[in-house]
Amino acid sequence: MNILTIETTCDETAAAVVTDQLQVLSSVVASQDELHRRFGGVVPEIASRAHLERILPVIHEALTRAGLSLADIGAVAVANTPGLAGSLLVGLVAAKTLCVALDVPLVAVNHLQAHVYACRLAAGREVFPCVGLVVSGGHTSLYRCPDAIRFELLGSTIDDAAGEAFDKVASMLGLPFPGGPAIQRAAEKGNPHAFAFPRSMLDDQRLDFSFSGLKTAVRYKLVGPGRADFSRLELPSQLVADLAASFQEAVVDCLVGKAVQALERTGLDTLCVGGGVAANTRLRARLEEQARIKGFRLFIAPLRLCTDNAVMGAIAVERLRAGLTEELTLDVHPGPLRR
Ligand code: KG4
Ligand code: ZN
Repeated sequence: MNILTIETTCDETAAAVVTDQLQVLSSVVASQDELHRRFGGVVPEIASRAHLERILPVIHEALTRAGLSLADIGAVAVANTPGLAGSLLVGLVAAKTLCVALDVPLVAVNHLQAHVYACRLAAGREVFPCVGLVVSGGHTSLYRCPDAIRFELLGSTIDDAAGEAFDKVASMLGLPFPGGPAIQRAAEKGNPHAFAFPRSMLDDQRLDFSFSGLKTAVRYKLVGPGRADFSRLELPSQLVADLAASFQEAVVDCLVGKAVQALERTGLDTLCVGGGVAANTRLRARLEEQARIKGFRLFIAPLRLCTDNAVMGAIAVERLRAGLTEELTLDVHPGPLRR
């Protein structure tokens, strides 16, 4: 069976066609980075309007690349949680409409679970049970994942998501949006020990994260409290590189430290890492180092499946196998569902 998967949780309009044997027949992602760049972050209203314009061409392109027509689709899957309400609604309405027109089942996808499932897809073999670390622009959380269906929250950020901190710090440093790749590039020429930034909650028993203090610490290296106009700062490139490298190292220390704590706490021996920030080369290297030292199995989503895409919606295959399809009354849930 061919499954059309739709993803519009944030600012990427994406569709893919996958088979119930987990083959990927096509994947299309229309990025909105250009539209949001000048604001230094995603503007929800702009995002939902752009989804509206793009959703039908993106679905059409996904079918064309797969060499299929709508009549060949046996189920439609859509990410309905978590995300921006207006963005989620565009994908959900498109999915429901297709389900009515084609008389095929509707499958709900939890976007965060899908980020973990990207590891299963790329591995081509079983990765469950595992600890899932989802680290993206909107979320930074750890989960116990006994299988592909069950997903239990162990801890999450109490303020900013890691990717959000990357984006905001990049904007302070005069680096372009999205900030993650820009900070990574700047950090290559910087000293990660130049500034002793805080590693909040690392010594805490809880499996939670906090990045807003780190963001403020970077800010205070540049300007004091109050309303600063960062665009007026003229920062020497070596200072930018050192701040970027020291900031990145602090984020990576927290993510790696908490992931290792989660493995120890749960007794699980497998870690799956997904989400946009999982593309970070320093994070990947440090996780691989810890996996060697501590002897756990590590699966990190490949770069093309780290940032938002519809291929990871192939988790719908697992839900279909478990008989988990939805009524057409299915709604969006902007906040993370704790199920
Ligand atoms: O998963 P994603 O595409 O969207 C959300 O669901 O939020 O993640 C986007 C986030 C952005 O904050 C971006 O700055 C970050 O992922 N990101 C990175 C890197 N590539 C993307 N952060 C650090 N290093 C990277 N190489
Ligand atoms: Zn995401």
